[in-house]
Amino acid sequence: LLADKGNYSHFMAKEIHEQPEVVGRTIAHYVDLANGVVALPDTVNIDFAAIDRLVVVGCGTAFYAGAIAKYWFEQLAGLPVEIDVASEFRYREPPLSGRGLALFISQSGETADTLASLRYTQQGGWPSLAVVNVQTSTIARESTMMAPTLAGPEIGVASTKAFTCQLAVLLALAIHAGRVRGVLSAEREQELVGALVGVPALMNRVLAHETDVEVVARDLTHTTDVLYLGRGLSYPLALEGALKLKELSYIHAEGYAAGELKHGPIALIDETIPVIVIAPRDGVFEKTVSNIQEVAARGGNIILIGDRSAASEVGIAGETAIEMPPVHPVVVPLIYAIPVQLLAYHTARVMGKDVDQPRNLAKSVTVE
Ligand code: G6P
Repeated sequence: LLADKGNYSHFMAKEIHEQPEVVGRTIAHYVDLANGVVALPDTVNIDFAAIDRLVVVGCGTAFYAGAIAKYWFEQLAGLPVEIDVASEFRYREPPLSGRGLALFISQSGETADTLASLRYTQQGGWPSLAVVNVQTSTIARESTMMAPTLAGPEIGVASTKAFTCQLAVLLALAIHAGRVRGVLSAEREQELVGALVGVPALMNRVLAHETDVEVVARDLTHTTDVLYLGRGLSYPLALEGALKLKELSYIHAEGYAAGELKHGPIALIDETIPVIVIAPRDGVFEKTVSNIQEVAARGGNIILIGDRSAASEVGIAGETAIEMPPVHPVVVPLIYAIPVQLLAYHTARVMGKDVDQPRNLAKSVTVE
C-alpha cells in the first residue's frame, strides 16, 4: 500500500483522528458558511418538494448511516423513508410507485448488492442519488445524482471517517429537504446548520479524552458478550457500535433498541455481560434512563456513554463510563460515533487482533 499511517500504529486510528478535518471539509461542501444555510452542490439536483417517498439502501456501516438518516428525513422534512440492506432490497423487488427517490450510500461505490439495487431502481424509472466516497466508482457514475463524501481514501476495513462524512451529507440533505418542503423555518435551519458546523470542534474535544475510552476497552477484553443499547438516533448507532465491536474484537455484540430490552434481551442480563448504553440528552433521554434502571435493578454491568450533567440530574451519574460534552440532539450520532469507534478499536488492539484487516472481511464486497 502506498497510503501512509503517519504517526499512528493502524490506519483505523489515523482515520478516526482525521474525522474533524474530513467531516469539516465535507460540511463546507454542503453549507454556505457565511449565511449558515445548506447550499447543495450542482451534482445534487433534486427537488425534495416534488417527492413523497424516499427509499434508502446500503450495506454494513453505510446501511446504519441510512438508518440514522431515516430519523432525520422523517423528523426534519416530514418525508416518509423506507430503508433496507441491499441484499434484501434487490431480491425483494419492492414496487416503485409514487414520486420517489432512491438513495444509495456506499463508501467504495462498488458494493455488488448496492449496485444491483441501484440498477433495479433505474429500471423502475426512479431517480437515484448516491452518497459515495469514491467519486469515480460505478455507483457514482450510474446514479442520476451524486453527493460526494470528502473523507479521502479509507484503508481500514472497518469504516469510520466515511461513516461520519456520510452522516454529515445526509443531515445537510435532510435540513435542505425540510426547508424546501416547508417543514423548517429559516431560524430553525440556521440553528441546525449551526449545530452541524460545530461538529468538528466537538469531535476534537471528544478525541482529546481517548484515554477514558481505553480504560473501558481494557475491561471489555475479558468478556464474551456485549449488549449495545440506544433509542432514537442512538439506536442505529448502537447497531453500528455492536457491528464494529464484533468485527474487530470478535466479541459477540448485539445492538438493540433500548425499549425492546424487555421483549427478550433482558433475560441475558447478569453481572457478567456489559451493557453499553448510548444516552445523550435528547428527546428520549428519560426513556433511556428507565431502561438503564431496569438493567441496574437486575445487577447488570452498565457502561454509559453520555452527558454527565444530564446523568446527574436523574441520579445515574455514577454509571457514566465515557463522559461526553453536551451536544445539540440533532448531531448526536456524529459526535457519539467517536467513542463507539474508539471502543471497538482499543478493545481489539489490546486483544492483539488485526485491527485494519479483520479475519474474513473485505474492504469492498464486489461479488455476492
Ligand atoms: C464491507 C466493509 C464495511 C462497509 C460495507 C459496505 O462490509 O467491510 O466497512 O461498511 O462493506 O461498503 P460500501 O463501500 O458500500 O460502503
